[in-house]
Amino acid sequence: MDARGGNRLKGLILSGGKGTRLRPLTHTSAKQLVPVANKPVLFYGLEAMSAAGIGDVGVIIAPETGGEIRAAAGDGSRFGVSIEYIEQEQPLGLAHAVLTGEPFLGDSPFVMYLGDNLLRDGIVDLVETFRTEKPDALILLTPVPDPEQYGVAELNGQGRVSRLIEKPKEPKTNLALVGVYMFTPAIFEAARSIKPSWRGELEITDAIQTLVDRGLRVDPHIVHGWWKDTGQVQDMLDANRLILDDVGERVEGELVESRVEGRVVIEPGARLERTTVRGPAIVGRGSQVRNAYIGPYTAIGDEVRIENAELEHSIVLSGSSIRDLEYRIEASLIGKDVRIGRGPPLPKAYRFVVGDHADVQIL
Ligand code: TTP
Repeated sequence: MDARGGNRLKGLILSGGKGTRLRPLTHTSAKQLVPVANKPVLFYGLEAMSAAGIGDVGVIIAPETGGEIRAAAGDGSRFGVSIEYIEQEQPLGLAHAVLTGEPFLGDSPFVMYLGDNLLRDGIVDLVETFRTEKPDALILLTPVPDPEQYGVAELNGQGRVSRLIEKPKEPKTNLALVGVYMFTPAIFEAARSIKPSWRGELEITDAIQTLVDRGLRVDPHIVHGWWKDTGQVQDMLDANRLILDDVGERVEGELVESRVEGRVVIEPGARLERTTVRGPAIVGRGSQVRNAYIGPYTAIGDEVRIENAELEHSIVLSGSSIRDLEYRIEASLIGKDVRIGRGPPLPKAYRFVVGDHADVQIL
């Protein structure tokens, strides 16, 4: 109980999972740590919790990538929250993750936030509505042009949620479920009562449907600012574009015979030589860019080296090097410590050192 006599609202961020759709990046690294505008996706969620006044956040982690997530987010003090890490042995579904978080959540109502999701307007409004309306659950919905690709909600005459359907062939509404939910502890019983779906997971949509079927009140909350699930490469690039659209201009690095146009961030310790950067774009700390063009919607991480190359609409993670390219790099997601360059000119042949599940396209 807190000073106001109610159980304090807690946060649960889901940062486990397999991340199969972001391979090969997620072979070595957690997808929630892939940076968008040079900041890990997960950090946006932690900041959203903090902005909504939620101080206690449980972060669900997987055994394989949990260490890396702990190292990156630490005890949460940097975000103004206190983090407790909760290991989920296997990614058995979002409702399974909720049950894994039960000992931490106890009797508190909570916000559940998918760690690979980004929500432009945060969750302050959602939390306010939950506090004043006091439904048993509140789910975030957004109108989409292609509802058959999403979990879709149907509403009844009173504007409450009456049915949730995964990827309906003939959707009755265009309201897709966004990866943020608010629950009371009633969700635990519901999650315990469901069976795994065809894909072997305990689905959160089934648990919410159970709440509805038991006559509990599930309210919708419609978001109008953009929302992105960054599960796939194109989504990551889209999210990068949306976030960069909101950054201001800040040049702290060194410019030598170089030009920046528009909203560009050059972090301290970065050095540009004979280079043009056209914003919105960001170049991270300590990066060295020479004889290059960095086009709009590009995020270059820390300690990256670029020489004799052009890039646009791309994300380059820290420690990578790109040099001597004949063509421009576009719409690309380049991992950590990658080297891209040209081999010796002859003989004419391809030579690859490519990890498992890579998708190499020669155009
Ligand atoms: P998803 O993107 O639905 O699942 P996934 O991470 O396994 O990815 P993929 O489909 O590419 O294999 O998960 C949404 C978020 O929830 C993501 O941050 C991972 C997290 N998650 C868990 O923490 N535990 C789970 O059991 C599942 C399924 C997901």
